[in-house]
Amino acid sequence: MYQSKIKGLGKYVPENIVTNDDLAKIMDTSNEWIVERTGIQERRHIDKKTEDTTAIMGKKAAVQAIERAGIATNEIDLIVFATLSPDYYFPGCGVQIQDLLGIHTCPAIDVRNQCSGFVYALSIADQFIKTGMYKNVLVIGSENHSGGLDMTTRGRSVSVIFGDGAGAAVVSRSEEKGQGILSTHLHSQGEYAKELSLIGPSTNYWVPEIIAENPQEDIPYFPYMNGQLVFKNAVVRFSEVIMEGLKHNQLEVSDLDMLIPHQANLRISQFIQKKFKLTDDQVYNNIQRYGNTTAASIPIALTEAWEEGKIKEGDHVVLAAFGSGFTWASAIIKW
Ligand code: ACO
Repeated sequence: MYQSKIKGLGKYVPENIVTNDDLAKIMDTSNEWIVERTGIQERRHIDKKTEDTTAIMGKKAAVQAIERAGIATNEIDLIVFATLSPDYYFPGCGVQIQDLLGIHTCPAIDVRNQCSGFVYALSIADQFIKTGMYKNVLVIGSENHSGGLDMTTRGRSVSVIFGDGAGAAVVSRSEEKGQGILSTHLHSQGEYAKELSLIGPSTNYWVPEIIAENPQEDIPYFPYMNGQLVFKNAVVRFSEVIMEGLKHNQLEVSDLDMLIPHQANLRISQFIQKKFKLTDDQVYNNIQRYGNTTAASIPIALTEAWEEGKIKEGDHVVLAAFGSGFTWASAIIKW
């Protein structure tokens, strides 16, 4: 078995900053409500006048990750792209990245695991590298949430939480034993699929059916979230999957140098921090500035933590996610 290691990280967020006060101008909400319940102060939304889309933001993050990995773009053997907000219903963004990066041809996989998408994608990269099939895998998480949110008072309990952005990692074969991605742990529980979902339009619920079934002013094209159920499950599953990963590697909570939680809600991260008695330096949060960027949140946070020098060689870094599905996952990394 080979070892796999994150060799380069990159991120991209649109320039357009949307503050809580900006949202309060278009829906019945307030800075106080949003900060108190979620910790979010501002988020980025794609400016429709720019070229940015889910795939293009993913490409921008990928270019930075590839440069930092010190490899040529054509050395990428596989693309794994995680998003719940692709540019097209089909094909997925992975093939767009292959084209946008000018890679001759290569396999491209799209991952549909929402907030856990990046950790699932990282796990796929890890398996392909450990078995020796590929040497360099490009993993991307990117979301254009603002393109599909209900920005009226009706959608406020969901719309204020989400933001746009992308993060990327180049995962490469490494000779250093005991370093790199030590293990990944993946879970799902489909009985809660509808509790955090966008059920239509879909092949099972297409536009004419939606319009026929719903009064014009209440058409459910927008995401639905049972916030309190999500909160209750998130705090339990985050804790479980972090412990599962640590135990698998015979590690204790005290061995953990940096936890990068999916940026779901600052209250969830703070709950986990308190439960595990971690210091502020051991948990990275940037939801205050970007909101919840779903599959992009972990790679953006990981990139920033690394850029700020908060992750050093030999550190135990834990990535943990929970989200729609429900799905949850963790990755244990020795940097
Ligand atoms: N501004 C002002 N008022 C609002 C807003 C808003 N943006 N959204 C909802 N409200 C109102 C509601 O209408 C309700 O009013 P009412 O009491 O008059 O009926 C009141 O605030 C309370 O609404 P709840 O939905 O019960 O609010 P809650 O206290 O549950 O907080 C929240 C909502 C923040 C989403 C909470 O449920 C939560 O933290 N959930 C965790 C899930 C989460 O954070 N998910 C993130 C995305 S999913 C993921 O990444 C895993």
